[in-house]
Amino acid sequence: MRDAVEVASQRYAPAGRWALGFAKGKMSGDPAYKRVLELIQPGARTLVDIGCGEGHLLALVRALHPGIALHGIDHDGERVATARTALADEPELTLTDGDVRGFDIPESDVIACLDVLHYMPEDEQDALLTRFAEALRPGGVCLIREGRSDGGLASTVTKLSESLAVAFGRHKGDGVWFRPAEVTKATLERAGLEVELTDCSEGTPFSNMLWVARKPC
Ligand SMILES: C[S@@+](CC[C@H](N)C(=O)[O-])C[C@H]1O[C@@H](n2cnc3c(N)ncnc32)[C@H](O)[C@@H]1O
Repeated sequence: MRDAVEVASQRYAPAGRWALGFAKGKMSGDPAYKRVLELIQPGARTLVDIGCGEGHLLALVRALHPGIALHGIDHDGERVATARTALADEPELTLTDGDVRGFDIPESDVIACLDVLHYMPEDEQDALLTRFAEALRPGGVCLIREGRSDGGLASTVTKLSESLAVAFGRHKGDGVWFRPAEVTKATLERAGLEVELTDCSEGTPFSNMLWVARKPC
């Protein structure tokens, strides 16, 4: 893993020192990345990263899985531009600058959606989760990382931090809509997925959870 972080983060050197430092910190410190990487099956053909930001997860996946086709989408043009700089030499990669709500999700073995859902109202979150289930191949897995709204003080800290990030323009969005963990789980189950829900907050003051949702074979 350490070698993969080194290889993947060095791609960000042409984007500047800040981009390089941020990539290194995010890739080595984000517990969800490690979980996504562990859950990619050897035969996986396609991974989609919803709200891919600067493409850190895509770069890490590429360092460990040379054969997998990668797709990333994000509606923040600056972030997508950084991802394009870092991943410029990648043939099996598509980056889309656009809103995921209008994105035609390709048939996938892995769909990652890390820290994105809460930027949309609840009905739009449900619609997106249902589309994830439809786009997964049998045996495929969808990984959602989000803050839960029912985690006490950690939920308050998460909501405050994200609300400020939106208000000050660090993240693009109309607001923030966090939900109880079981509500998101129930939506995924209604869409036909088998869901495992675990804590994903280690080392942070946030209420982050990880939903690992599999489509039966
Ligand atoms: C907190 S960042 C997380 C980035 C990345 N997933 C990661 O884990 O590092 C949230 C990202 O979701 C993107 N995003 C939020 N709502 C979106 C939407 N409706 N369509 C596309 N991208 C969206 C933001 O632009 C931002 O890059």
